[in-house]
Amino acid sequence: MPRTIIAICFSLLALAAACERTETPTEPTLDAQLRQDIGRWGVIPIGPVPAQPQALVDLGQALMFDKILSGNRDVACATCHHPSTHEGDGLSLSIGTGGTGLGPSRTLGPGRQFVRRNAPSLLNDGLGLFYLFWDGRVARFLSSFNGGPPVPGDVPNLLSAQAMLPVLDRREMRGEPGDRDVFGAPNELAQIADSDSAAVWQALMRRLLAIPEYVAKFNRAFPNTPTSALRFQQAAEALAAFQVAALTKTNSPFDRYLTHDDAALTTQQKRGAQLFFGTALCSSCHNGPLLGGNGFANAGVPQLGPGSPATPPLDRGRADLPDQQFYQFAFRVAPLRNVELTAPYMHDGAFSTLDAVVRHYNDVPLTLTTYDASQLDPALRSTYHGDAATTDSVIRTLDFRLQTPLHLSDAELADLVAFLKSLTDPSARDLSALVPAAVPSGLPVPQ
Ligand code: HEC
Ligand code: HEC
Repeated sequence: MPRTIIAICFSLLALAAACERTETPTEPTLDAQLRQDIGRWGVIPIGPVPAQPQALVDLGQALMFDKILSGNRDVACATCHHPSTHEGDGLSLSIGTGGTGLGPSRTLGPGRQFVRRNAPSLLNDGLGLFYLFWDGRVARFLSSFNGGPPVPGDVPNLLSAQAMLPVLDRREMRGEPGDRDVFGAPNELAQIADSDSAAVWQALMRRLLAIPEYVAKFNRAFPNTPTSALRFQQAAEALAAFQVAALTKTNSPFDRYLTHDDAALTTQQKRGAQLFFGTALCSSCHNGPLLGGNGFANAGVPQLGPGSPATPPLDRGRADLPDQQFYQFAFRVAPLRNVELTAPYMHDGAFSTLDAVVRHYNDVPLTLTTYDASQLDPALRSTYHGDAATTDSVIRTLDFRLQTPLHLSDAELADLVAFLKSLTDPSARDLSALVPAAVPSGLPVPQ
């Protein structure tokens, strides 16, 4: 009997040893391990976007670059979302109607104020984000009936809903009562009451449909809709189609790595990815297919600018929306593809480089309390709210994951930046081919 037990023990030992031997060759390689870590966070390759009808895209492109959509005929969507600055404007805070110039050198017009937030790049915003805007106030499940923005119920998708809104915003596109347009004519859009969005959209359609080239473009894009039945939501649908078709850029080295091309990332980028999806905790917020876009957090970003209408001069982000008080100073976790191209960073452009961003994450309370406003455009420095009461209230509600310093070395921070640069689709670097030579209104194309 004991002999049998010993024999069994020996065979078990042998089995264990054999298992050990056979396990060695199947031990995950560094790449397999990294892919596993990445997969755990729901990061998957992004499939192709649905093809958009060419006539709709063509109309959308014209509208995107046409200043006729602004009350004073001086600002187009592309003024703040321009190909030369990778579909943002290169400014910390945007400058709307009345401003002059384009890109980082754009300046405020006399008596005008900065827009309260940074203009996000439109790259990849057609990929089905759950939330749009830094506070997520345009969301898939929010309609105007439960606290969402005043958008008609029959817009076909989130991006079309969004495109209804910039034209209503006085500071961005509509202008103030009494404004005159670039030709000295009264700005009829600015005279309409804020509560009457529908009248603004109607007035815009009157402008557009007075131009035969727009009538032709709308008719081609909406062959089944008589001209008299066209509404601004069709313009918005076209703006959305242009964004989906022209601005989806997902062929980055990281995306190629995800589809099993081990050589797509450099060794340094892989080290950065290990940090990002591991000890640096980035992926605990930046996760899912878009590496963000699906939640909100207070990331301890310095407060600057005019603030939100609800709580000037502070911008409490999502907390300003109805029933969202929990989210003090919380903003949308930014999706990160092509982030290398879209400085400055954060909801108010407080950081001008990726290096500054990762240094911020290395010790959030410290960078917040020692923020140096001289890195900002001179016109913005005096709008930095660095008083102790403000920084205290940001730190008090800081996300728990960011309360403890990471203690990463300079080399590790550089690895993280290298990883972030692997998220760039090379074809997003030069988008100049998207700027049309002319637009139907004949107004100058922002370029
Ligand atoms: C004066 C500058 C300016 C103009 C003009 C402008 N935008 Fe924006 N855009 C912004 C800013 C700033 C934000 C962020 C606002 C916020 O989060 O509160 C934004 C946000 C967006 C977003 C959401 C992106 C995201 O990832 O959340 C989209 C889409 C967008 N704009 C499209 C447009 C379209 C279409 C037009 C023209 C109809 C337009 N914008 C005109 C400055 C501008
Ligand atoms: C607690 C959640 C959280 C963690 C952890 C986190 N982030 Fe963020 N990230 C955010 C939020 C929220 C924003 C936007 C904050 C704002 O604008 O106020 C953001 C913004 C960014 C931006 C700027 C994007 C842009 O377009 O402006 C970058 C880059 C970034 N994060 C990278 C990282 C890296 C790298 C790490 C890890 C070291 C990290 N994040 C960890 C929540 C987080």
